[in-house]
Amino acid sequence: MAEKILIVDDDVDSLKLIGLMLQRQGYEVVVANTGQQALARAGAERPDLIILDIMMPDMDGYEVCRRLRNESATQAIPIIMFTAKTMVDDKVAGFEAGADDYLTKPTHPAELASRVKAVLARSAAQRRGKNDRAFAMGLIGTKGGIGTTTLAVNVATATAQQEPTILADFRPGQGTIGLALGFGRSTGMPNLLSRPTNEITSRAVEHELVTHSSGLRLLLSSSRPKESLMNVSPDSAALIVQHLRSLCRHVMLDLGPGINKVTARLLQDLDQVTLTVEPTRLALALARDLLLDLEQVGFAQARVNVVLINRTQSSLSVPWQEAEHILNHEMTAIISPAPELAFQATEAGMPIVLFQPSAIVADQFNKLAEEMNSRVQAIARGTLTT
Ligand SMILES: Nc1ncnc2c1ncn2[C@@H]1O[C@H](COP(=O)(O)OP(=O)(O)OP(=O)(O)O)[C@@H](O)[C@H]1O
Ligand SMILES: [Mg+2]
Repeated sequence: MAEKILIVDDDVDSLKLIGLMLQRQGYEVVVANTGQQALARAGAERPDLIILDIMMPDMDGYEVCRRLRNESATQAIPIIMFTAKTMVDDKVAGFEAGADDYLTKPTHPAELASRVKAVLARSAAQRRGKNDRAFAMGLIGTKGGIGTTTLAVNVATATAQQEPTILADFRPGQGTIGLALGFGRSTGMPNLLSRPTNEITSRAVEHELVTHSSGLRLLLSSSRPKESLMNVSPDSAALIVQHLRSLCRHVMLDLGPGINKVTARLLQDLDQVTLTVEPTRLALALARDLLLDLEQVGFAQARVNVVLINRTQSSLSVPWQEAEHILNHEMTAIISPAPELAFQATEAGMPIVLFQPSAIVADQFNKLAEEMNSRVQAIARGTLTT
């Protein structure tokens, strides 16, 4: 489909000339010869670009530009100011009013064409960038030691086989991902968290990432107790996540058990949360409270996955149907006990999904990753009500 350009000029000859030039280049052209008409056409036609004259009798181009920028329907439409004015101050005023580029009359057709093309390409790239924002998901345990990190590592590894994925360990002092995947005491996360915010740049964040042989990229905390003494600023943590999102398609965060002040801040920016629970009445009671807390900070049920992890086979475990009933929430997945496999995979520094892909739990992790990723995409598209 041809891109639509709205040309605004009170001089009819100028309108015809530019209109003809752009039509020859294959663009669809609509015109307006007053400021008022320009605003009406821009709203009704939703052009891909507006070429705007400055000197018009009813309303000058700066004012038209400002008004377009103030309306949500038109604020993102790129604008090229087109005028006989050549003073530097006029250009400054144009940019201040919100113009993307500036052309002075008379303009050579080739220059007009190349400016139009460049501005349209830039705005298309920006739109793509917005739609391509990485998905961010946090994993929270209802209590410690129930398999949250194992789940995070396996789901992230499964996702990394499809699309670029980063797993970040937000547990300085209690980080176990590095040890479980053969990176020892890697400390990328505390290195970043100890910096002033102006030094937490995208480059700095990328510099601290390590890459597992599976392709999964990691931002790690270590298990050194001194890291737990760090005074972590929630805003620094949020800034790190923001940069991680610019570096890949899926960002997953191991947030550990419960909600602390850093988790609470990060929740504000996450698309989805996965809550892990074990089949005991105690854990289920904690999970119910956590679900209520999540709802209070704006996490409606549809954005929360609950995963039931069975680490041992026991007749005393609460059956999953009853667990669903207690939580009033459907389980997104149920993970089977695999104590030996979990142990062996950790010894080998490998996620279970790669260590033994044919295992039942590997299959459960892979399916869960698929389910989570299709849900998060539905949330981002707005097709899953939240
Ligand atoms: N499905 C499973 N079956 C059996 N054991 C498992 C399973 N998943 C994880 N484990 C084991 O449970 C233990 C705790 O796992 P993990 O470290 O992932 O839990 P966590 O909730 O992240 O703990 P922490 O609170 O220390 O961060 C580990 O020894 C792990 O190998
Ligand atoms: Mg853990």
